[in-house]
Amino acid sequence: MIHSRIAGTGSYLPERVLTNADLERMVDTSDQWIVERTGIRRRHLAAEGQSTCDLAEQAARRALEAAGVTAADIDLVIVATTTPDRVFPSTACLLQERLEIHGCPAFDVQAVCTGFVYALDVAHRFIRTGGARRALVVGAETMSRIVDWSDRSTCILFGDGAGAVVLEAADEAGILSTHLHADGSYKELLTTDGGVSEPPPEGGQPHIRMSGNEVFKIAVKTLGAIVDETLAANGLEQGVVDWLVPHQANIRIIQATARKLKLPMERVIVTIEDQGNTSAASIPLALDTAVRDGRIRRGETLLLEAFGGGFTWGSALLVY
Ligand code: COA
Repeated sequence: MIHSRIAGTGSYLPERVLTNADLERMVDTSDQWIVERTGIRRRHLAAEGQSTCDLAEQAARRALEAAGVTAADIDLVIVATTTPDRVFPSTACLLQERLEIHGCPAFDVQAVCTGFVYALDVAHRFIRTGGARRALVVGAETMSRIVDWSDRSTCILFGDGAGAVVLEAADEAGILSTHLHADGSYKELLTTDGGVSEPPPEGGQPHIRMSGNEVFKIAVKTLGAIVDETLAANGLEQGVVDWLVPHQANIRIIQATARKLKLPMERVIVTIEDQGNTSAASIPLALDTAVRDGRIRRGETLLLEAFGGGFTWGSALLVY
């Protein structure tokens, strides 16, 4: 059987930092409220003219370098994003062109904050069935472009960034299982107020709209259930996973999932304080951070999980 394993990781955060103090000057909020309710202190924002593909390219090049391969070795490009550069071509095609690789399949996956888990699942299935040998899987976002900067209930949450992995065919198991779900009946709780064929009410750019408290409660419950599903599918008990690498939406959601897994917070990769919610980019950003600082080592078991608009939710259990 062909397995798939992560050969290398990379990430990129734009230079500009927006602190809670900066937000205090923009909307009626406080550093204390933001930190207590979310765990976020600052977030990175793309510069004017810096696109999702620009961030994706930096993360991708770092992942290729870490994997010890060149772009020419890649035969599948998947970008998970909610904030593509253009309606079309896909950001994956734009990235493929930047990397000067031509001909291999390249496409975007849109599952909002669960996008990276979806993309990883798709790449894993390509590799297992022999459809690809080495995939570049990227989560990249410029959420700042769809944030309503006058809405204090959402503008404090989001940031920009990108993370990437090279996933390659291997003889030994890397990804052990993936679990994807969606339920569109929750579409109004976390959405944008318009898009392409459905115009925004007052014209112009669509913005994020969220019923935060309801999303919070459902996220905690749903992520608890997917932890159970993932452990059961692998015949594992709570507490045996080495690291939880969660989507970074709210520190309180992350803590609840860690409790469900019976993992102390020292075994949870948390980047939310410095990065906010970077949607599809948050898991590969967290993964790369912990690989590069030496916390996550080869042979350790990781549980990746995410919840986002749709609703979508998913997890992956893997040996790094
Ligand atoms: N600063 C100060 N007060 C704020 C505020 C801000 N930035 N944003 C909202 N408030 C106020 C509200 O107006 C409300 O005031 P009221 O009681 O006078 O009506 C009060 O704070 C409580 O609001 P509520 O929405 O109930 O707070 P909360 O504890 O649920 O925290 C979130 C809000 C958004 C931080 C939280 O609900 C959350 O993280 N939700 C999930 C987000 C998420 O995961 N989204 C993406 C999934 S990928």
